[in-house]
Amino acid sequence: MHIMLRSSLLWLSERQSVFSFVKSNGFARKFASRFVAGENLDTAIAATHEINAKDIPVSLDLLGESVANPTEAARARDATIAMLDRVRAEGLAANVSIKLTQMGLDIDEALAVRNTRAILDAARGIFVRIDMEASSYVERTLRLFYDELHPAYGDAVGVVIQTMLRRSAADVEELIRRKARVRLVKGAYKEPATIAFPGKKDVDAQYAAEAQRLLADGNYPAIATHDEQLIQHVIAYAKAKAIGPERFEFQMLYGIRRDLQEQLRGDGWNVRVYVPFGTEWYPYLMRRLAERPANIAFIVGSVVKEGVRRK
Ligand code: FDA
Repeated sequence: MHIMLRSSLLWLSERQSVFSFVKSNGFARKFASRFVAGENLDTAIAATHEINAKDIPVSLDLLGESVANPTEAARARDATIAMLDRVRAEGLAANVSIKLTQMGLDIDEALAVRNTRAILDAARGIFVRIDMEASSYVERTLRLFYDELHPAYGDAVGVVIQTMLRRSAADVEELIRRKARVRLVKGAYKEPATIAFPGKKDVDAQYAAEAQRLLADGNYPAIATHDEQLIQHVIAYAKAKAIGPERFEFQMLYGIRRDLQEQLRGDGWNVRVYVPFGTEWYPYLMRRLAERPANIAFIVGSVVKEGVRRK
């Protein structure tokens, strides 16, 4: 049942026509606000101030993927550069995450590289993470990272590995060899069993093994998960191998397990929160609902409760 619901939600996440309908609906917007820090930069900056006040840095993400033309890609690039300027001007503890399809990868690879380089040039010391998208982009993303981005920008740029993919262990070894910065995630997209582990157990076991490899030999890896068991596993491994808190960071998504984020920070571990914002929240929201369909009931419940209170 859960698997069917997950597939349906992921299928819906790719339907722009559904988004047009959902976007105009105030209820759905309210729905989104639990996972998205508002629709513009000001709301995201306000959220960043609040999170930074807890001694937790963020990674800002302007929502949007798979743009249709070069003008839209340029707009996303310029908005990201404006975001970097704002982070610097307000002295925030924040870096940024971007997606190559948002920079034009579906239109022209060279265009996506040019836009990404413009962002990296403007970042001047602020770290830029290239998010990983669906499996059809993985090979190209890694190739562009290896050939164009990492050699030119080194530690100022990093990439993401999804442990649900069967290829991920080999990719982790290659990234360790290149001393590149990796964020480790389970993977948020719907993938066929030919290339991805269909069972959660395998994805989790893979996560534990790859996290250990990155902790032992990686370059300041980001352990991005809300999975408490895996987090405890990582902590136990770090302690056993005398790997200090300065060697890696935990990462979690805005609005998910805030209790755990604060608890880990309180225990002295580095924690970063991924803060998505912008008008293009629909696919992101649907992926979050697919991860935990109980969220649908949770959000409906809280929206209804607030509605009742207001009456
Ligand atoms: P899992 O899904 O097993 O959940 C473990 C527990 O965490 C759940 O039992 C629940 O308690 C809690 N939880 C998880 N998801 C929740 C939700 N939506 N709402 C409420 N509780 C939830 N993916 C990708 O493909 N490319 C990328 O670039 C990124 N980037 C990224 C950055 C960061 C900082 C994070 C934390 C995650 C990503 N992801 C991602 C998403 C990732 O692939 C994965 O889909 C989610 O993190 C959910 O998986 P967990 O590791 O949390 O485990």
